[in-house]
Amino acid sequence: MSTPTPVVIDTDPGIDDALAIVLALASPELDVRALTTVGGNTGLANTTENALRLLHLCGRDDIPVAAGADVPLVRRDSRADASTHGADGFGGVVLDPAPRAADPRGAVQLLVDVVEASAAPVTLIALGPLTNVAALVAARPDVAARLERLVLMGGGARVLGNMTPAAEFNIWFDPEAAARVVAAGVPITMVGLDVTHQALTAPGDWAGLRASGGRVARAVLGMVDYYTEYHRARLGIDSTAQHDSLAVAVAIRPDLVATRAVHVDVEYVGTLTRGMTVVDLDGVGGLPPTADVALEVDAAAFNALLTSRITELDGSLR
Ligand code: RIB
Ligand code: CA
Repeated sequence: MSTPTPVVIDTDPGIDDALAIVLALASPELDVRALTTVGGNTGLANTTENALRLLHLCGRDDIPVAAGADVPLVRRDSRADASTHGADGFGGVVLDPAPRAADPRGAVQLLVDVVEASAAPVTLIALGPLTNVAALVAARPDVAARLERLVLMGGGARVLGNMTPAAEFNIWFDPEAAARVVAAGVPITMVGLDVTHQALTAPGDWAGLRASGGRVARAVLGMVDYYTEYHRARLGIDSTAQHDSLAVAVAIRPDLVATRAVHVDVEYVGTLTRGMTVVDLDGVGGLPPTADVALEVDAAAFNALLTSRITELDGSLR
């Protein structure tokens, strides 16, 4: 097997973030060097505590966690969507406290230190609002330029919105940040609603994990059960969109999705369209590409990877 890819995960755990982080920890293709946290699904205090507790659950207290931004760059009225992930961000699932606090360096400095210390280029996986990533680009564009790639969960090309008809939550929460990130020149893979809504995880996909009975299984399945209720109430389906896990899976296996290099920009002035990713699929604007946008996905292969890897990790912790 080739050398594992060094990654930092910027995240707002969050139920689908939690499964995505476990997937990353379970995958030998990735070397998770740090987690940085951002406000989004719930406030920064919760997302940071959740990240620490999740790593402790998985036996990875060695991975540093640093807190970043609690609120967006400009807009102050973005609201966490407590109905999706619960007020605590984990759907009421309480994990054991971690035996450590967050790294005092803060998200941007930890990101800088990891990138500068890494012999191989680091891939940044962004699973929440892009406030921390925008802060890195502003503070240290030289370090941002050293990133191998930014794989972000967010936006949509044809499937536009889950927070408004035009906007996906991560982009909607901080559109000014997202606009700066897509214009920064960092190679981007955008894993948006076009593919996360194609790759829904059905209840039966969790059978192996449910049978495993391990401590990670109990925790993540408790979260999935809460998340399923949200999908039943909001969308009338029993399956769940594991948005963030698909972004991590794309970092593991880029061949899981078909992408198109196109110009992407972010609307942050519009009333009805604030937070919309404007994806020029047909090149009508004549502007150069700013992202590789995922449009198709091998849903079966993704769900097999997700559920088998988490099951394997759980087995290894016994
Ligand atoms: O729209 C889905 C995204 O918003 C995911 O990252 C989910 O965790 C929420 O943050
Ligand atoms: Ca997220």
